[in-house]
Amino acid sequence: MRYTVDFLVVGSGIAGLSFALKVAPYGKVCILTKSGASEGSTKYAQGGIAAVMYDSDSFDKHIQDTLVAGDGICDREVVEMTIREAPDRIRELVRYGVNFDKEGGRFDLHREGGHSEFRILHHKDNTGEEIERGLLQAIREHPNIELKENQFAIDIITQHHLGQRVTKHTPDIECYGVYALNGDTHMVDTYLAKVTLLATGGVGNVYTTTTNPVIATGDGVAMVHRARGVVKDMEFAQFHPTSLYNPTERPAFLITEALRGAGAVLKDCKGNEFMQKYDERLSLAPRDIVARAIDKEMKIAGAEHLYLDARGIGKQALINGFPTIYAKCLEIGINITKDMIPIRPAAHYQCGGIAVDKKGESSIHNLFAAGECSCTGLHGGNRLASNSLLEAVVYAHNSAVEAVERIKSVDICTQVPDWNAEGMVFNEEMVLITQTRKELQEIMSNYVGIVRSDLRLRRAFDRLNLIFRETDDLYNRSVITEELSELRNLIACAYLITKQAMARRENKGLHYSIDLI
Ligand code: FAD
Ligand code: SIN
Repeated sequence: MRYTVDFLVVGSGIAGLSFALKVAPYGKVCILTKSGASEGSTKYAQGGIAAVMYDSDSFDKHIQDTLVAGDGICDREVVEMTIREAPDRIRELVRYGVNFDKEGGRFDLHREGGHSEFRILHHKDNTGEEIERGLLQAIREHPNIELKENQFAIDIITQHHLGQRVTKHTPDIECYGVYALNGDTHMVDTYLAKVTLLATGGVGNVYTTTTNPVIATGDGVAMVHRARGVVKDMEFAQFHPTSLYNPTERPAFLITEALRGAGAVLKDCKGNEFMQKYDERLSLAPRDIVARAIDKEMKIAGAEHLYLDARGIGKQALINGFPTIYAKCLEIGINITKDMIPIRPAAHYQCGGIAVDKKGESSIHNLFAAGECSCTGLHGGNRLASNSLLEAVVYAHNSAVEAVERIKSVDICTQVPDWNAEGMVFNEEMVLITQTRKELQEIMSNYVGIVRSDLRLRRAFDRLNLIFRETDDLYNRSVITEELSELRNLIACAYLITKQAMARRENKGLHYSIDLI
């Protein structure tokens, strides 16, 4: 099938939905999403969204905290713009119907690692679920928006699909839309659009242990890389210090940093505090520092996990303030009001991604990106907690403002051919895909994790090359499936993380190599 729209959005998390709501008054919008409408990292966000809402805090402090966490490589102009725009975007979310907790008529604010003030707006400890609920309700009520579930975007369409040679040096690469695999018909549809927004989320599934849902396979980043667009800062893969240690569970359940903000303390396997050895901000130091400290303590003790002790917060405050975590831990026999919580770091967030300018446009003309798949310059070497949801709404807004203008001067490219599946055969050996995916995750976790070295990176690079060649070969002769496409995308992202890590010759933020100390 062939579809034509003004605005095409790939992804139904906070970034895609916010953009869609903003452009909908100006044209026809289609949102493609590869799973159910609400499935994505947004739904699982716990801590909340950072913004300066009252005079007791200041933009300067939030800017400074973001720059410090980013370890000197944030884009200062982007940081200032994002943080100053935050209150307007928060008020907009509230207008769309999202509820944040209040006390005495004011937003109830939490604190997380790296923040010098209490400034995290939240909805108990399930903020993302509330954001997703509110936005999806607004989307469903809008007559100009069509949301299509189980539609897997395979590739963005550029001049390459018109038979022209496109390299990374080609000026003015243009995006005409995407090819997408329809999960119901198993056919590849052609979506043509004046403007396309990628809002495909993160890439946590390149690692064995991740807080990310299964949809986080870096599809948008890989698509742009294949289309010869610019992808940057991928070496900055963020590990969250505290995921619940429950080895058989995937994704790993997150224990929000807000719990540390409320007073929970990290302890080693003997129950002693250890963060004083690493940073004066103790358990509330920025994430890169805390994750490395935990990794080191686990290695010294040969332990599979350490502990987070939340008992000092008090029974009622825990049950009322963190009901999701309380219930989840109880399910596996841990009463957080009485027991310490076993934790370990897990891959959580990708700071790098599709390079975009301040208007959210990528290096490919008429292709915008927002949310976790993008790289705006806000996070630098390490994202400050709860700045991700914020970045997503700010850049969804900026992209929407530009996209609304852009469609006035863009024509749909009607020469685009439909997908050609001639000569492809069904791959009957699923094991080729599942085993390679496991191999990839092992390679990345062992060699390109929290602590790296030149030798480990080289080893990862060589092994990735091999599985890239095998998978590319399989892809080129197989009828396309979502599993195979995801694997191809994961390998592309793993390659980008490793290659960009090899190129960075200094320890910055989340990139830490023992050869660069
Ligand atoms: P997502 O919400 O991940 O949505 C991606 C969408 O793209 C999905 O709808 C998916 O189906 C779709 N998609 C992907 N590939 C394709 C494809 N090929 N075709 C079609 N559709 C596709 N950040 C904070 O700021 N505060 C927090 O408290 C916080 N807590 C977090 C807790 C957890 C457990 C996790 C995992 C992350 C947390 N983060 C938090 C990070 C934050 O939630 C994410 O960065 C953010 O929600 C990403 O939003 P997004 O719209 O970019 O992507
Ligand atoms: C958390 O709640 O600890 C996650 C916050 C984030 O990833 O920004």
